[in-house]
Amino acid sequence: MPCVLITGANRGLGLEFARQYAAEGWSVIGTARDPAMADDFRALGSDVTLLPFDAADDASLAALLRQLGDRPIDILIANSGVDGGRQEAREVTPEAWKEAIGINTYAPFRLAVALRANLERGQHKKLVAVSSLAASIGSGYAVPAQYIYRASKAALNALWRNLSVEWRPLGLIGIMLRPGRVRTRMTDFQGDLSVEESVSGMRRAIAMTTLAESGRFVGFDGVEVPW
Ligand SMILES: NC(=O)c1ccc[n+]([C@@H]2O[C@H](COP(=O)([O-])OP(=O)(O)OC[C@H]3O[C@@H](n4cnc5c(N)ncnc54)[C@H](OP(=O)(O)O)[C@@H]3O)[C@@H](O)[C@H]2O)c1
Repeated sequence: MPCVLITGANRGLGLEFARQYAAEGWSVIGTARDPAMADDFRALGSDVTLLPFDAADDASLAALLRQLGDRPIDILIANSGVDGGRQEAREVTPEAWKEAIGINTYAPFRLAVALRANLERGQHKKLVAVSSLAASIGSGYAVPAQYIYRASKAALNALWRNLSVEWRPLGLIGIMLRPGRVRTRMTDFQGDLSVEESVSGMRRAIAMTTLAESGRFVGFDGVEVPW
């Protein structure tokens, strides 16, 4: 069966991605920062594997890569993320900045780069970044006091877009996703969409994206998102 690797699969959108792929018979590898807190993931079925991964810790990435070895991965979903808090411009601290860029930007990029050969061995050959409308400057999206999150997701898009261009000759397909405003812990369970609705739409977008469209930024609704 095809294999999907999902970071942050213990709750929220990551858990729902895992649930839906497992229900369709995929082999699912999920990561969690604290595997002891991932009972909902473990309950998804027999062909699910849980691996520890803390995106803020380089040693944790190295351990994850050792455990994956040269296993083919059809789809990588870089989903783990933090919201960076809310602060006025003058309140942005180097510590908060570094944490959010590390988890939302650097870690997914490092993970994708390290897994290039695994993705090349897969059939689907897709690398997916769970981005956000907050990354979009052209959409006119404006939420005050969201400096760190916006910058971290816009930078993630920039890196993912570059990877998509660089790796297109290898047949690898890069996709950036806008989940919509979804009821998860990150949004204090406020929002227009359930995790089921958001993830169903994002999975459809993943499945439909061809190599010719690699590097696209697309919403759960299948609509392209302005950069
Ligand atoms: N919900 C929305 O409306 C929305 C909208 C746009 C984009 N997004 C994006 O969607 C993704 C998933 O968010 P969500 O809504 O499902 O939020 P969530 O319920 O808060 O889940 C966040 C996930 O990221 C993991 N994570 C946080 N810090 C980590 C670290 N240092 N290392 C590894 N994993 C870490 C969390 O693990 P722990 O349980 O260990 O903390 C959890 O699994 C994020 O990238 C988010 O930015 C969400």
